[in-house]
Amino acid sequence: MLNIAVFVSGRGSNLRAIHTAIEDGRLQASITLVVTSRDRAGAAEWAEAEGIPVLSVHHVQPSEVAKVLLEALGQHQANFIALAGFLKLIPSEVVAAFRNRILNVHPALLPAFGGTGMYGHHVHEAVIASGAKVSGATVHLVDEEYDRGPIVAQRCVPVQDDDTADDLAARVLEIEHSIFPEALELFAQNRIFVRDRRVFVIK
Ligand code: GAR
Repeated sequence: MLNIAVFVSGRGSNLRAIHTAIEDGRLQASITLVVTSRDRAGAAEWAEAEGIPVLSVHHVQPSEVAKVLLEALGQHQANFIALAGFLKLIPSEVVAAFRNRILNVHPALLPAFGGTGMYGHHVHEAVIASGAKVSGATVHLVDEEYDRGPIVAQRCVPVQDDDTADDLAARVLEIEHSIFPEALELFAQNRIFVRDRRVFVIK
């Protein structure tokens, strides 16, 4: 059973997709905590209305964030972390404590279009400007570097000639909403192992 802490910074559509997958029985898990890097994020308001505990790290001193997070994760018995549009780097102490137990969803096909500054619309604008004909979503394990951890799942979408960043974002977001809960379910079923930075799914 996964007890997931979902980390958010904004709207929270991936948080809601994870919640829906749990309600529908597609994901054997529960969301025990929502961590937000912004006080008035839509996701945090939604979680509060659902009765899910919410921790904001917005006003926490950078040097204190790791300690505050580890305490809250312990208190809420979280054994897994899902980064659903969380725009801050996870402190290395938390990565170490949750090694291979943190997943991030990224709105492009990593290792392209990732790294510092590559989030939200910046990603889709860069994809369109590059002339790439496909984009997609990536779910990957989180290590100490932005967007570099081992890849668990990817799915493609076409980039159309007349796409705006908004058009492409909407097409990719739909994919995120399915591959993120699916990837989490592989961990819930204990079907993942990692070797030499590669992720293998046990059939
Ligand atoms: C999602 O598209 C997610 O992939 C992206 O932020 C959005 C959050 O949307 N994350 C990144 O760009 C991280 N590099 P949501 O709040 O509606 O889930």
